[in-house]
Amino acid sequence: MKTCIVTYSMSGNNEKLGQRVADSIQADHIVLKDEKTRTMGTIVVDMLFNRTPKVTPDVKVIENYEQIILMGPVWMGHVASPLRKVMKHIKSKGLKYSFVTISGGTLNKNPKLINDLKKRAGENILLLKDWYIADLMDSSNVNMKDTGEYQLTSSDIELLSVDVVASLKDIYDL
Ligand SMILES: Cc1cc2nc3c(=O)[nH]c(=O)nc-3n(C[C@H](O)[C@H](O)[C@H](O)COP(=O)(O)O)c2cc1C
Repeated sequence: MKTCIVTYSMSGNNEKLGQRVADSIQADHIVLKDEKTRTMGTIVVDMLFNRTPKVTPDVKVIENYEQIILMGPVWMGHVASPLRKVMKHIKSKGLKYSFVTISGGTLNKNPKLINDLKKRAGENILLLKDWYIADLMDSSNVNMKDTGEYQLTSSDIELLSVDVVASLKDIYDL
């Protein structure tokens, strides 16, 4: 079965993890990029006004895949807005999908994430894996600034990718 990992990443963490997982399971890696410059302001506006930003490549690139794994950051408790177009396509076709994220995790562990995924990409979710940067850091009192600036190390990527690949192998034909 043809498998793709679709990543969006603002500061690089989800893209790096996605590349590592794609290499491990020999999947294609499709990297979404914003058409317009992404800023903190455009993140907040997208989330508050429910906007779907333009991204490249076009959503059609996922049409030939049977197994679709989405990866990207959580912003304000929701899936990052640049993944919305792909999620809408998945829902409109009734496709199965998974979502993996390395997010900050300093607040309350994203309780609304599963509802956001189901609303935007449909009920056919096979796996939700929400890893937190706060759990990778040594200190017990990390704040949003610390997690926001954190870049995954090669040993973090190894640790997370082993876990993600094992979970994917449990449910997909890989
Ligand atoms: C504006 C903004 C809002 C964020 N909101 C959350 C959040 O609600 N929950 C969370 O766990 N992390 C949150 N984060 C942290 C990101 O998910 C985290 O830094 C992630 O690793 C970034 O991924 P990237 O490097 O792939 O862009 C937020 C980050 C930004 C910039």
